[in-house]
Amino acid sequence: MTKYEHLDPQHRALADLPNDERIQWIRAERWISHPAAELALAAMEDLLTYPQRNRMPCLLVHGRTGMGKTMILRKFSRDHPKVIDPRLGLTQMPVVLMQLPPEPAEVPFYEELLGALGLPLVGEVSRIRARRMARDALRIIGARVLVIDEIHALLVGGDRQQRVFLNVIRLLANELEMPLVCAGTPEARRALLTDGGLADRFESVELPRWTSNLAFRRLLASYAAILPLRRPSELDQDRVRTAILKLTEGITVRIVRLLERLAVEAIRGGAERITLEGFEALPARAPLLSMEQRRRIDAVL
Ligand SMILES: Nc1ncnc2c1ncn2[C@@H]1O[C@H](COP(=O)(O)OP(=O)(O)O)[C@@H](O)[C@H]1O
Ligand SMILES: [Mg+2]
Repeated sequence: MTKYEHLDPQHRALADLPNDERIQWIRAERWISHPAAELALAAMEDLLTYPQRNRMPCLLVHGRTGMGKTMILRKFSRDHPKVIDPRLGLTQMPVVLMQLPPEPAEVPFYEELLGALGLPLVGEVSRIRARRMARDALRIIGARVLVIDEIHALLVGGDRQQRVFLNVIRLLANELEMPLVCAGTPEARRALLTDGGLADRFESVELPRWTSNLAFRRLLASYAAILPLRRPSELDQDRVRTAILKLTEGITVRIVRLLERLAVEAIRGGAERITLEGFEALPARAPLLSMEQRRRIDAVL
């Protein structure tokens, strides 16, 4: 009989590692695919090969903090790394990934963009010059998609500043004839939709909170198949699913952290599996933030 049949064949050998190595493995960051993420990635792939034309389509990935937006953008960027032609010494960077700077203004935006291209701006530069440098650099480097994370940072500014900034983004998309991918919270989505010129351009993919459905069952099944525990867990049981959703409110980051904790406890305690009892036995740990604090922080983000 094969050992560890509850695990993916490629992950079975991990289960024989010593406890501390397995715990390290569990705590390391890794990509887990799920349907909403695949939908977003497929939409981005589509933009990458979109023929250049006057009004390029754009994509907005929206969801609450901790739902996994940044993970998706980073995965897309990893899938399309920059390539260097060794003979010509030319760098081609099909996907440029940047974050909206905390201050939503034009020069910091170009600064951030140039930084993402590995061309940090030094010293004071005028708006016009920063803009020209950013546009030229994107062309020279062969950028095909500009990905902007943390788009909700634009909400920090007042109405006028927001409009000015949305204008910058629209002009950039128009002039470069390049699709934009933005990621942000539901509030950012509302702000983006207030700009008529942008609203028509953006398709959107939502990362909704997890609920008890097939997608969530699959997510848990994927985890159950890779966590290096020596016995089969109960992650496929209704009551376990319900307990997880109740504790995490369906937020990805909380689900991932909870499963990590349960798996580590299962190794340390010797149970070697995640069970409903494991939830109850979970050592009480005061949450870092109270619900009230979390609500206040979420409201600002
Ligand atoms: N697809 C995924 N695979 C594995 N872990 C994920 C995934 N999505 C989210 N996570 C976990 O949730 C955390 C928060 O995700 P992140 O992308 O930063 O959320 P957001 O950008 O929406 O606030 C990540 O650090 C990771 O631990
Ligand atoms: Mg993020």
